[in-house]
Amino acid sequence: MSEDILKINNLFVNYKTRQGDVKAVNNLSFTLEKGDKFGLVGESGSGKTTLANAILRMIKPPGYIPSGDIFLDGTDVLNLSDSDLRKFRSTSVAIVPQAAMNALNPVRRVGQQMNDAFRDHGVKLSKSDLNYRLGELMETVGLRSDVPNLFPHELSGGMKQRVSIAMAVSLNPTLIIADEPTSALDVVVQRQVIDTLDQVKEKYGATILLVGHDMGLMAQFSNRLGIMYAGELVEVGSSDKIFSKPNHPYTEILISSLPDTKTKRKLVGIPGLPPTLLDPPTGCKFHPRCPKVFDPCSDLIPDKEIIDNKSFFSCHLASKNRAKVK
Ligand SMILES: Nc1ncnc2c1ncn2[C@@H]1O[C@H](COP(=O)(O)OP(=O)(O)OP(=O)(O)O)[C@@H](O)[C@H]1O
Ligand SMILES: [Mg+2]
Repeated sequence: MSEDILKINNLFVNYKTRQGDVKAVNNLSFTLEKGDKFGLVGESGSGKTTLANAILRMIKPPGYIPSGDIFLDGTDVLNLSDSDLRKFRSTSVAIVPQAAMNALNPVRRVGQQMNDAFRDHGVKLSKSDLNYRLGELMETVGLRSDVPNLFPHELSGGMKQRVSIAMAVSLNPTLIIADEPTSALDVVVQRQVIDTLDQVKEKYGATILLVGHDMGLMAQFSNRLGIMYAGELVEVGSSDKIFSKPNHPYTEILISSLPDTKTKRKLVGIPGLPPTLLDPPTGCKFHPRCPKVFDPCSDLIPDKEIIDNKSFFSCHLASKNRAKVK
């Protein structure tokens, strides 16, 4: 039987600003099963990093969580005490942060930084055990065994990204969140970093939440996809099904915007700009840009159309199509 590792129920995350609250994550619910490789896709500003930070309990002022639940491996994340929070981070969930390149400490060698993380979590290793562990981690992420002796500035972008992945897995967390780990890399290195995540997943059996906006890359890596628009998950399902039959017009456009060398079909862009989350559109938030917009879209928030216990989408077309069938 599959086991739910992450359960998010009706989560809201806002940022207080002078103009009012930015509703960065809006009534979002989804579940990850153990071993899932879940790809979270969405345009810039759709709330992906905010969601990732919420799972890590890393939302800082002016951000706040007005309501919602996050359960990771049975732990009620939003009600963890400060002392449990430290242990929770890294051992239950670890992040390969967006701009991981800049997240490394420039004045400490890679191995020292990794040892700091072990010590922070009460793992004391002898020099030879540490060397062995670092060597093993470097091998898993495809780096030479001398990399722990180097400073971050001595590494290429792809190498730094792999070091970040090694750091994320070093304490064997249940869930690894990789926030756009490839966005600053060329396509060959992007592929290698994604393959590295795959190997790490196989070796450690972790569940992975990969955040990104390259639909093609995400679909290749993930067994399930979540499509985020303006702080909401508009469609969730298996990568195969979403690619063969997207249900939400936004998902459809994201797929049509991918180049296809076989058919050389015309690329489709998304008209208009993403909405401001300070004062988002009424009804379905995608309606001002949607090519299939019709009557109820501007006024009514669409219900969630449940396909099965792992797949849903939110679009008024569902009820229109049902009415047609009747
Ligand atoms: N500290 C903050 N103060 C106010 N608004 C914020 C803050 N951080 C994020 N936001 C807003 O929250 C929304 C979601 O931001 P977030 O960084 O989560 O998006 P994202 O999907 O990760 O984008 P990207 O793909 O560019 O990384 C955006 O509208 C952003 O402007
Ligand atoms: Mg982001």
